[in-house]
Amino acid sequence: MFRHFFFAFTSVAVFVQVGIFAYRDANPEWKNYQKVYYQKLAEKLGDPALAHSSLSVKQVWDKDLNRIDRCTTCHAGIDNPKFENEPQPYKSHPSFAKSGYISKHPFEKFGCTVCHEGDGQALTVEKTHGVVHHLDRQLLTGPYVQTACTKCHYELYSPDVYWPETKELMQGKQLVSELGCGACHAIKQLGTNATLAPELSSMGSKTELAFYLVHDFSRVESKDHLTRVWEYEHFKDPKKIVPGTPDAPNPKDRTPPTIMPNWGLSDDEARALTVFVMSLRDSKVERIPRGYLPKLISHEDYSQYR
Ligand code: HEC
Ligand code: HEC
Ligand code: HEC
Ligand code: HEC
Repeated sequence: MFRHFFFAFTSVAVFVQVGIFAYRDANPEWKNYQKVYYQKLAEKLGDPALAHSSLSVKQVWDKDLNRIDRCTTCHAGIDNPKFENEPQPYKSHPSFAKSGYISKHPFEKFGCTVCHEGDGQALTVEKTHGVVHHLDRQLLTGPYVQTACTKCHYELYSPDVYWPETKELMQGKQLVSELGCGACHAIKQLGTNATLAPELSSMGSKTELAFYLVHDFSRVESKDHLTRVWEYEHFKDPKKIVPGTPDAPNPKDRTPPTIMPNWGLSDDEARALTVFVMSLRDSKVERIPRGYLPKLISHEDYSQYR
């Protein structure tokens, strides 16, 4: 009797489980987002038939950049000015409409991850927007997107250049010169080559894993163990994050705390410096093809800024 009951119970459990998987397979998250997008589009254009458009994965396959970006599967209104006031993920891209500067990087050619990094092929909010530890490059949002502009716009490091589109990066550049970081660090982009501290010139091209393996996160407050989080907290209080081991029992193991000064930076300043150091890219790692570089400037001219 018990055996029969047990058998019946497990078969029902397996059945329900298979059912859940099948339902999830047939109704992935992105389909709901795309369905709502078409409903909104139908309403805006006064064409009810559009609400029943067939749903499909959208992608930009960028052979030259070697990227496949499916972000527009959910962000379907990204290039439609009619979606300016819609919530995410439907909203059109800021600075895109009316020939804003983003439109100079047509999505059909640039895709999204050349600026936003992250996993271009993922199709769930968790995998595209969450902290995904195995990812080499985490999604960049808010001011952190500015760390990607320097892959192509090398002139941003020139002391005479100020771009309002990259406010935090410009603030960081200003602070680096005011606080004299170049007295200790080599930053090729700014022409400094001191050797008292680690070179920062290719900080922004390191993978998350490469960073994680050589940085101690044990004193970092945030649970998100990301490069930008370590950098930010280190700027706020370098000695807290890198206290050294002055009390080690064996004198041979003793190391002093970091000599990097604590400037009592505001949150905004620490963030601007984080954006700045993460913008320091190595063009050999980024390998942006010539056809994606602004016309005015070529790889040869890069030496001027390095
Ligand atoms: C499965 C659907 C989906 C996919 C795929 C997707 N997104 Fe999103 N995205 C959303 C939703 C929903 C939001 C708003 C909620 C949120 O912030 O998590 C959002 C918000 C955003 C934001 C604003 C978030 C912020 O914190 O400022 C950015 C930037 C963004 N997405 C970029 C991307 C990029 C780049 C990709 C491709 C690598 C992508 N998204 C792929 C659904 C998606
Ligand atoms: C040329 C670089 C660039 C490209 C290419 C790009 N973005 Fe962005 N994106 C940015 C910047 C910079 C911001 C931050 C803008 C701001 O905060 O004003 C941003 C912000 C966003 C936001 C948040 C908007 C908001 O209102 O907060 C979303 C969503 C987004 N991008 C999605 C995408 C998607 C999807 C693609 C590809 C179709 C894409 N982006 C391509 C640079 C880019
Ligand atoms: C993959 C390379 C690439 C990346 C990354 C990139 N851009 Fe561009 N950007 C270009 C190209 C190419 C043009 C077109 C300029 C031309 O035709 O000379 C351009 C044009 C511009 C323009 C208009 C300049 C003008 O003279 O018309 C602005 C402003 C700009 N980009 C800002 C940004 C910002 C801000 C970011 C980062 C969020 C960014 N770009 C990221 C390649 C890039
Ligand atoms: C007195 C010398 C000194 C000055 C000035 C200084 N630093 Fe540092 N910095 C160091 C030392 C030493 C380290 C290595 C130990 C540590 O991580 O604190 C370091 C570490 C760093 C790191 C982490 C590098 C890595 O690969 O782990 C960054 C980023 C950084 N500094 C940026 C800056 C910036 C930006 C400024 C200017 C606002 C600055 N530093 C000013 C000495 C200095």
